[in-house]
Amino acid sequence: MRSKIVAGNWKMNKNLAETEALVIELEAKLPNTDAEVMVSPTFVNLASAVSKLQGSKIKVIAQNMHNAESGAYTGEISADMLLNIGIDTVILGHSERRAYFGETDEILATKVKAALAKNMQIMFCFGEELNDRKSDNHFKVVESQLRNALFDLDPSAWSSIILAYEPVWAIGTGETASPEQAQEMHAFIRKTIANAFNNEIAENVSILYGGSVKPGNAKEIFSKPDVDGGLIGGAALVADDFVAIINGI
Ligand code: PGA
Repeated sequence: MRSKIVAGNWKMNKNLAETEALVIELEAKLPNTDAEVMVSPTFVNLASAVSKLQGSKIKVIAQNMHNAESGAYTGEISADMLLNIGIDTVILGHSERRAYFGETDEILATKVKAALAKNMQIMFCFGEELNDRKSDNHFKVVESQLRNALFDLDPSAWSSIILAYEPVWAIGTGETASPEQAQEMHAFIRKTIANAFNNEIAENVSILYGGSVKPGNAKEIFSKPDVDGGLIGGAALVADDFVAIINGI
C-alpha cells in the first residue's frame, strides 16, 4: 500500500529563528492524519529542525545532496553528513536545481545511486516545461526524465523512492495543473513504471503532485486516485496554510 505524503519544500527561505518558530508552530497545529508529513528547510537549519522535532511525526528532509562520498567539492553536502544529523530522505531533481544549477538527468542518476547506496529515501522530482506541454511533448519528456534517472535501478530500489511530478509551468506561478491534468499524468507515470518494472512497483510508489498547491485546491487534487499527496513550496511557509493542505488529504 502506498503512503500518502505531504511535504513542504522551504527552498531558500527562513533563517534559523524563523525555522525554529515554524516547526514549533507546525508541530503544535499538526492535525491527526494518516499522511506522512515532511518539511525541508535549508541545509544550515536542518540540524536545528531535527532537534526541535525530536519525537514528532513531522520528518525533516533535505533539498539536495552531492553524489560523492566526501572530498574537494566546495559548497557541497554529502549523504553521510545528512545521515549524521538524522536526515534519511533527500529531494533530488527539483526543477530549480535542473534549471539554475545545471543538474541533468545524468547527474541526477548518479545522485540517486549515491543516495540509495547509503540507504536513503529519495523524493525524485521531474516535470515538463510549458513549451513541452504546448507542443504536446509532456508525456515524452516525463518518460525520458524517469527513464534516464531511474529505469536502470534494481527493482528493490523502488521501496526507497517517492516521485514528485511538478510541471515547471505550475511552480511558484500561481497556475496549477487541473486535478484532471494531474490525474492524467500520474496515471501515465504509473503505467510507464509498470511497463519498465512491474505492476506491484507501480502500484506501491507514492506519486506526489507539486506546483502551486494551496489550501483552496489541495483537496480536489488529492482526491484523484493516482495522486498520493503533494510537494508544497510557497504555501508550506505559512503554518496555517500547510496544515490546511494536510487536512485536504
Ligand atoms: P510551489 O512550489 O508550491 O511554490 O509552486 C512547489 C515546488 O517547487 O516544490
